[in-house]
Amino acid sequence: MTSDAFNPQTAERAFENRLRPKRFEDFPGQDRIRENLRIYIEAAKRRGEPLDHILFSGPPGLGKTTLAGIVAAELGVESHTTSGPALERPADLAGLLTSLGEGHILFVDEVHRLSNVVEEYLYSAMEDWAIDIVMDSGLYAKSIHLTIPRFTLVGATTREGLLTAPFRARFGISERLDYYAPNELQTIIRRSAAILGVELADGGSLELARRSRGTPRIANRFLARARDVAEVKAAGVIDIDVAVETLRMLGVDENGLAEMDRRILHTLAQHDGGPVGLKTMAVTVGETEDTLENVHEPFLLREGYILKTPAGRKLAPLGWNAVQNGRAAGPGALC
Ligand SMILES: Nc1ncnc2c1ncn2[C@@H]1O[C@H](COP(=O)(O)OP(=O)(O)OP(=O)(O)O)[C@@H](O)[C@H]1O
Ligand SMILES: [Mg+2]
Repeated sequence: MTSDAFNPQTAERAFENRLRPKRFEDFPGQDRIRENLRIYIEAAKRRGEPLDHILFSGPPGLGKTTLAGIVAAELGVESHTTSGPALERPADLAGLLTSLGEGHILFVDEVHRLSNVVEEYLYSAMEDWAIDIVMDSGLYAKSIHLTIPRFTLVGATTREGLLTAPFRARFGISERLDYYAPNELQTIIRRSAAILGVELADGGSLELARRSRGTPRIANRFLARARDVAEVKAAGVIDIDVAVETLRMLGVDENGLAEMDRRILHTLAQHDGGPVGLKTMAVTVGETEDTLENVHEPFLLREGYILKTPAGRKLAPLGWNAVQNGRAAGPGALC
């Protein structure tokens, strides 16, 4: 029997929760979004009305779940968490909605994975604070009109494009999270190090921050591994040498590119810089199309390593440089 404590996923979640900021003041980065939310929350509080529905979108690990928690804490209301795939039937949704209190937050993670029928029920719940549930079927079918408390739906998605237009239009507030700058990640890493009780030199925090793919989740993971290296190989302090050694062990290169990034760039180089279609890329690098498009590519596009054209992905000059530097570093450095 595996105890929960030894389940890697549970341990990872516990680690993330420990480092998760609870209030805006502990949440560096995403300045525009944070300031917008502060104002919307303050205005809703003053009017004594529930906050408008919010949609958070963007690549994994940038803080969507964290912000949902912060919004509830700043409003001082209860938050109920569920996810798109967990709400299979309208009855699941009805049960949840009727258990909410006035002004509460309903956080729906992976909101793009709601079934069509559940999504349609949500429309009237979001707009009219009511749902009509059909009881029984056939000749004796009757519909019950249920009013529900005025709640705030907070949806999170890595795939905003999959939401239907009518659904998206029902979120009064829609914010797309972007990758973080190295100095913001450095602040995040310093805070995490303080929580974990590990000593961190400036050179160490900057090196980890610089190579974290603009992503707090990755920065925190690097920190956890650097702590191990510091404890075993150094005097417990994460300095630049410990950071560099940790990143070498993790297969992260000078630019913060990981194994899968290098495979993608290498595949494009093998095709003379492309264009290469998504299907071909997925088969060649051994990853699903979905993960490629929503987890790996956004960073490479944003940093200018690759370009997206109607015919497929192409290698940009920065991408060619990375491939060539990888070759110069010797066999095995690229893939
Ligand atoms: N601005 C931030 N400041 C400090 N820590 C952050 C920040 N953003 C994210 N984190 C940390 O990064 C980790 C991942 O964040 P979170 O779970 O909110 O990401 P997400 O966008 O919901 O990802 P996913 O799409 O995978 O659900 C958490 O441990 C969180 O505490
Ligand atoms: Mg999340």
